[in-house]
Amino acid sequence: MQTVNIRVFDTPHDAGIYVAALAEQVIQSRPDPVLGLATGSTPIPFYDALVGLHRCGLDLSSVTTINLDEYIGLPPTHEQSYAYFMHRHLFSRTNIRPENIHIPNGMADDLVAECARYDDVIRQHPIHLQILGIGVNGHIGFNEPDDLLLSKTHVVELRPETVRSNARFFERIEDVPRRAITMGVQAILQADQIVLMAFGPEKADIIARSVLGEVRTDVPASILQLHKRVTVVLDRASAQGLFDESGRLREK
Ligand code: F6R
Repeated sequence: MQTVNIRVFDTPHDAGIYVAALAEQVIQSRPDPVLGLATGSTPIPFYDALVGLHRCGLDLSSVTTINLDEYIGLPPTHEQSYAYFMHRHLFSRTNIRPENIHIPNGMADDLVAECARYDDVIRQHPIHLQILGIGVNGHIGFNEPDDLLLSKTHVVELRPETVRSNARFFERIEDVPRRAITMGVQAILQADQIVLMAFGPEKADIIARSVLGEVRTDVPASILQLHKRVTVVLDRASAQGLFDESGRLREK
């Protein structure tokens, strides 16, 4: 975020419309647009708005999608799998072609081979616009805080705070998968353009640390400061740590 580009909206709904308009620009400006996509509650207003644009005439048949991550052990038919989420919120509501959809296979017998396969997919489809949410601990994709951030697609043990946070989508905390496949930070940083979205007061502290703090591997989203074209899309609650009383962006 060498040029910090921050947009603060009154509601996630308004933010979603803005991000969908950014996606439309990318989609209209090239024959083979590639969108890197996230799951979780944050991007839902964006998907709703993109579906809205599609219903108003935006053709998505040339779009390739590459999802960030998937739980290990959940089949695509499981309601909490990320494949299911994407079909429900975006794919089944648009004309994105099934053959253009890429999500890591969390059911693969050979997870190492699956990670290598996914890196090949990313190599063949460099990402034009990467949509990111952020975990309360600063994770992007499922690149969790650690001494080291891995560049390639890999299997990750989810941190206890991530399991706790994601338990809201499951009946019991024991049902939350403990492992996932995630795209690495290299693929994220190689995207032409990145949009980091965050809503709600629980994200305010980590947004301030990611945008204004040091670049550190234990705050994975802070590495986005190294990218030349990032837009941080917030609501007022998630933005509250970024500005002083007079509304000026705080110093780094
Ligand atoms: C999901 C993903 C995660 C989420 C993050 C925030 O594909 O990559 O990094 O973006 O856990 O989740 P929500 O939006 O549910 O707060």
